[in-house]
Amino acid sequence: MTTYSYSSDAPGEIRTGLLIVPVFQGPAPGPGVREMGLADAYAGAKLTGKKGEHLLVTARSGDRFAAGAVLLVGVGPKAEFTVDAARRALGRAAGTARRFGTVATTFPTVFSAKQAPDAVGACIEGLGLGAYRFDRYRTKKADGKDLRRITAVGPARWDAKPLNAAVKQAATLVEAVSWARDLVNIPAGDMPPAEIAREAQAMAKQVGLTCKIWNEKQLADGGFNGILGVGKGSVNPPRLIELKYTGAGRATPIALTGKGIAFDSGGLSIKDAKGMETMKDDMGGAASILATMKVIAQLKPKINVIAAIPCSENMPSGSAQKPGDVITHRGGTTSEVLNTDAEGRLVLADALAYLAEKKPQLIIDTATLTGACMVALGDRISGAFGNDRDLAADLVAAGDAVGEPMWEMPLFKDYRALIDSPVADIKNIGDRWGGAITAAWFLAEFVGQTPWVHVDIAGPAFTDRAHDLGPRGATGVPVRTLVRFVLDRAGA
Ligand code: BES
Ligand code: MN
Ligand code: ZN
Repeated sequence: MTTYSYSSDAPGEIRTGLLIVPVFQGPAPGPGVREMGLADAYAGAKLTGKKGEHLLVTARSGDRFAAGAVLLVGVGPKAEFTVDAARRALGRAAGTARRFGTVATTFPTVFSAKQAPDAVGACIEGLGLGAYRFDRYRTKKADGKDLRRITAVGPARWDAKPLNAAVKQAATLVEAVSWARDLVNIPAGDMPPAEIAREAQAMAKQVGLTCKIWNEKQLADGGFNGILGVGKGSVNPPRLIELKYTGAGRATPIALTGKGIAFDSGGLSIKDAKGMETMKDDMGGAASILATMKVIAQLKPKINVIAAIPCSENMPSGSAQKPGDVITHRGGTTSEVLNTDAEGRLVLADALAYLAEKKPQLIIDTATLTGACMVALGDRISGAFGNDRDLAADLVAAGDAVGEPMWEMPLFKDYRALIDSPVADIKNIGDRWGGAITAAWFLAEFVGQTPWVHVDIAGPAFTDRAHDLGPRGATGVPVRTLVRFVLDRAGA
């Protein structure tokens, strides 16, 4: 359990295990450095304030700070120091902070009163997310300590009320993103579709969301044959998780869905061993929507949101679907399954059709959908595709605002014909090139006229290398983007 707080105490007075203060290029001391008598220490260590530098000063009798230690962090030129740079610098420092158990930072003080809520939130996020570790399967914990308290420090002249709210929002995000990361990092053997559904149900109960879990029989009765077709090669049966948040009476809702493939072996179009290693991450889209719904339920914006999250496991077996099989999806559209490894679009098709029936104002889906999107954008940028450029631009802007890079990709009209099938309405693969776009075209078939954005997170959902806001593994992208987008729409 971590507690999160805002304080306007003088930096030297803050009682905390570690106090993190910035130093700009020069070196030019950031808030608190001079008052605590540490300007000379930094320059004396021959440091200049370059990004990535740090100096740890431990307490000794006679010093002018109450913290157990002070970490001076080089953050580069002051003119280039943004809220996102603060988030990331603190993310990188969070590993050190863990050793001290409690941490505070004067980073917010660098910013203007107008930027203060954003800056306070970003600092809490940086420390909270940067300190995330996944060690539940280790018998010997690497470093037994967790961060028990995170405090953002601002000047006394700032009105604390909006800043306390910013702390609460950031704390809610940190907890939910960490949960999403856990859901993805937990091995597929321990997180089959029914378990994802149980997690969703428990979350819904905790935060007060309406939750319905569809089992196989109900899915069959409802015509969700994409979800069933993908799942039928596995002994772990599929589920559909339906969640509802009502914050605005009878207003038209926003609709969300996310790809929930508990494990993607490729099915009979089986992947090679290397290609399967990280495929427990193929429910990263589902996890991101679950976490987003959790945050929305906790922050209570004046808006309605519905979610339908398809969860299946893609396995090869005597009962698996076969290349050449034809699926009749929810709503009646048929698809020819030429490659069982293009399974994400098959489960999402049913969920999108179901959500479109509810006539929402817009639909957003998130999915670890294509290797092609990773080839195009790498492992740090999500691809946004859709039938409404303004909506896509809004989502990309939300991503920019929270430091989750996203780039709009073209749903180029001429490529639609690449998924024409000789036997069914459409087929589930295009030809060799433009695979992220043909995947998006497949999804587009199921949303009708509803404004829609598809976010391909195949790259950013899971990383092989540590990043500023966390270790190797699941990232929880794009939960913070989705929450920002929904809050913006609610006018919050
Ligand atoms: N889950 C994968 C996409 C993926 C690949 C995500 C690597 C993360 C890392 C998806 O189901 C898949 O297998 N896509 C195929 C589609 C192809 C068969 C048309 C791909 O991208 O190769
Ligand atoms: Mn696949
Ligand atoms: Zn997949």
